[in-house]
Amino acid sequence: MSKIIVALDGFSSCGKSTTAKRVAAKLHYAFVDTGAMYRAVALYFHRNQVDCNDLNAIEKALEEVHITFEFNPERLASDTYLNGENVENEIRKMYISDIVSQVSAIPTVRHAMVAQQQKMGKKKGVVMDGRDVGTVVFPNAEVKIFMTADPKIRAQRRKLELMQKGEDLPIEQIVENLKIRDEIDSNRSEGPLKRADDAIDLDTSYKSMDEQVAFVLEQVRRVQHAGK
Ligand code: DC
Repeated sequence: MSKIIVALDGFSSCGKSTTAKRVAAKLHYAFVDTGAMYRAVALYFHRNQVDCNDLNAIEKALEEVHITFEFNPERLASDTYLNGENVENEIRKMYISDIVSQVSAIPTVRHAMVAQQQKMGKKKGVVMDGRDVGTVVFPNAEVKIFMTADPKIRAQRRKLELMQKGEDLPIEQIVENLKIRDEIDSNRSEGPLKRADDAIDLDTSYKSMDEQVAFVLEQVRRVQHAGK
């Protein structure tokens, strides 16, 4: 079976990364969480007080940012590394969620990340989740899924996820963060969150993770059988 690219785009907390991870494991494909890359850049900018309005400072900072993924056998998943440091936990915290959309809206940041993502998928055999994978990173991806979910359900999922990581926040604060991020992610000039014309919709509000994974795998098999 020839290898393909599977692009999973959509809003935050629709289950994109978990679905993508499981689909990749089933297909023995690589999994790339592009949101983690933008989160790592946001962490670097935060720590080094990079001014988001200073293009020189941004370009200089990006030269110092090296993001890698390494498989963690304890989690059975990849951890995100920033310049050799495991930042997987740190980048999921709320203070990063609060700034990441501002950082990821900067065109220079997007160009740098998109170039890296395109390199990672050059040989195909990759499942990539994000906002612009099917529109900008791989507009020719063989399978494109656009994931949505009821905003209340997304907020509840996010709350649970944060609690499992030791952050117990009021649901109102999470709803507000998702709303602001949706707004910034959808309206930025460069690579906005947008459904690709040829994407297949997947509303995960009332779907189990197994159902979501099965849905995506079905699309992959359909394309592979069509001999694409
Ligand atoms: O998937 P996530 O919630 O971890 O992503 C964090 C932020 O990164 C999200 O609010 C928008 C940004 N992002 C992006 O702009 N483009 C992507 N391909 C992935 C994420």
